[in-house]
Amino acid sequence: MVFGKKENLVGLDIGSRSIKAAQIVDSKRGHTLKHFGIVDIAHGAIEEGTINDPESVAQSIQQLFKSYNIKENNVAVSIGGYSVIVKKIGVQTMAEEQLQETIHFEAEQYIPFDISDVNLDFQILGENESNPNQMNVFLVAAKKEMVNDYINLVNLAGLNPCIVDVEAFALQNTFETNYDVQEDNIALIDIGASKTSLNILKGNSSVFMRDVSLGCGQINQKIMSLIECTFEEAEQLKYGEKPDRLTPEDLKGIVSSVVADWCTEIRRALDFFYSTYPEDQINRIILSGGGANISEFRQLLATEASAEVESINPFQNFQLDGKNFDDAYIKQIGPQAAISMGLAMRKVDDK
Ligand SMILES: Nc1ncnc2c1ncn2[C@@H]1O[C@H](COP(=O)(O)OP(=O)(O)OP(=O)(O)O)[C@@H](O)[C@H]1O
Ligand SMILES: [Mg+2]
Repeated sequence: MVFGKKENLVGLDIGSRSIKAAQIVDSKRGHTLKHFGIVDIAHGAIEEGTINDPESVAQSIQQLFKSYNIKENNVAVSIGGYSVIVKKIGVQTMAEEQLQETIHFEAEQYIPFDISDVNLDFQILGENESNPNQMNVFLVAAKKEMVNDYINLVNLAGLNPCIVDVEAFALQNTFETNYDVQEDNIALIDIGASKTSLNILKGNSSVFMRDVSLGCGQINQKIMSLIECTFEEAEQLKYGEKPDRLTPEDLKGIVSSVVADWCTEIRRALDFFYSTYPEDQINRIILSGGGANISEFRQLLATEASAEVESINPFQNFQLDGKNFDDAYIKQIGPQAAISMGLAMRKVDDK
């Protein structure tokens, strides 16, 4: 579409614990958040990005759209986890069209899956710093099966999947829309229920991305191994709702050990960055996902990483319709809304 205004769509973040939908409209007052909704899905219906029970997830999506009165059918979804690989690689300098033809060959050595099983995309970043005959390329590879599963799921919910993005890119989009991009190094870390994604930015370009299988569900698992209960009950127990079943001391012990695990893994990723850029310092870490709500985690990470740690506000540069959103609610759901907000900023005819 060359003429006409670009159409907005609903950002739909399909997590393993909860699905979030955000719709933004552009008005004279700027970008305005029209709808935001969140709904939990059945435990086990999605695990680490793999959709085990599409019918039940599709129903949850329909319920979400209905209860928040979202009418738009065009959606942008995202995928993440170990089936998606994002890597900065060096290739012989060539024209984009030429790389389009040879990208499979170039990518093969970096992809741990059969190359015929993945969808590939790339972006040329520019000349390689140490070798002028080479250029840096951002390579994105996602398992075709996974991409198709998400498209089929959205269709099953009666919606139109216009864009399949990468979670970490959607989050970066949210960050860039809401924060002044500085020359500083910043780590964006999303801790969901079953996965954690890390993205280190130098200025506004990503230099390191990694997804690991850690998340808030670990807390539930530990509760379940301590006392006999279902996953759903563990979800209540972790908010300290039944101190007779799980004492505050036991809960604290569990949370401490899980967040210590996360910090070790994050430290490992940061150390990898420091080994490549020994002169640089990551001063600021911006958290999103449900894990960002855990204050003990924020404090420990600040100490362990010697950085300022804060939770993302994905609504900072948006107008909010005061009738629909009160301040306390917006603050509470902000971290979990981050990816859906980044997706909602995409346009129907974006690539
Ligand atoms: N205040 C809190 N304390 C502890 N855990 C919390 C808190 N708030 C949210 N969570 C946890 O965060 C998780 C949900 O976060 P989120 O919505 O980011 O996950 P998701 O996107 O569904 O999962 P994933 O991206 O890993 O597939 C749940 O496990 C929930 O228990
Ligand atoms: Mg998530």
